[in-house]
Amino acid sequence: MSENSTIKKIGVFTSGGDAPGMNACVRAAVRTCIYFGIDVYGITAGYDGLINNRIAPMTAASVGNIIQYGGTILKTARSKEFRTVEGRAMAYKNLKEHGIDALVAIGGDGTYTGALAFSKEYDIPIIGCPGTIDNDLAGSDFTIGFDTATNTAVDAIDKIRDTADAHNRVFFVEVMGRHSGHIALNAALAGGAEGVFIPEKENEFTELVNFHKNKRREKQFSIFVVAEGDEQGRAYELAKAYQEHFPEADTRVTVLGHIQRGGKPSANDRILASRLGAHAVKGLLEGKHGVAVGVINQEIVYTPFQDAIYGKKDINENLWVMNCILTRS
Ligand code: F6P
Repeated sequence: MSENSTIKKIGVFTSGGDAPGMNACVRAAVRTCIYFGIDVYGITAGYDGLINNRIAPMTAASVGNIIQYGGTILKTARSKEFRTVEGRAMAYKNLKEHGIDALVAIGGDGTYTGALAFSKEYDIPIIGCPGTIDNDLAGSDFTIGFDTATNTAVDAIDKIRDTADAHNRVFFVEVMGRHSGHIALNAALAGGAEGVFIPEKENEFTELVNFHKNKRREKQFSIFVVAEGDEQGRAYELAKAYQEHFPEADTRVTVLGHIQRGGKPSANDRILASRLGAHAVKGLLEGKHGVAVGVINQEIVYTPFQDAIYGKKDINENLWVMNCILTRS
């Protein structure tokens, strides 16, 4: 495969919010490079590391014993400087000094946006791997970290359920998802929540209040899951509004926050990340560039950065309908 390719040195980095499974992706990218006789460099702290020349060779051993860990051994950052023309010029200069021909960029929409700008300005092939717990990128059914984050949220909901039941309380549990309800909807379904509030759907709060006014469940406790990006309000606001409608309810809020970003990646995330890291390198060696690698219906696909960023991935409508059936019966 690499005989026809002019690429001899590939740089790998992680960028944006970390996601469990990023290490597995780095490991796969590094080892695939080595398998094909390509020199591989690790760039520390994403685009900031490119600008500040934090670039060092990696070996098969440097990615040993990392597949099971959350976080990222390459560190990560959200770089303001890379948004400037000067920052990108410095990054390109550093890459050329190291003789790096191509990049594997692991991250979310900010990472893809940076890669798109960079590849428009400079002749440097880049392939992105979707690494974000939000699962909000088109071009892959799932993103690295989503499965683990959802399992973390479900685990927390199970625990909250115990205390909610013991005290007959109503809990609003806020999960991550800056502009998306993928974690919220999946965690609500798996956690048996009584309702879920997500940015993709409108008026769920009003509908829920009306439903509870007309047909209050016999069960005295309830769990509602709120995506942090929900336009009707965040968990504290919704809990307050709920309390106003139901003064007798004993309401509490739990914001899960960054606990969802850490921890041991699930087997699904490790496998997905390994496939994506390996196919990012293979794609570069086959001459692909300016694209994100993904898995759709179990098959590897490559999607232009533009489409992966702007082709918003909607929530699974079937899951939404099922959620409505299960919570309104
Ligand atoms: O994009 C991933 C994500 O975890 C979002 O769900 C969340 O809104 C954001 O990152 C938090 O970012 P930070 O770690 O910079 O506070």
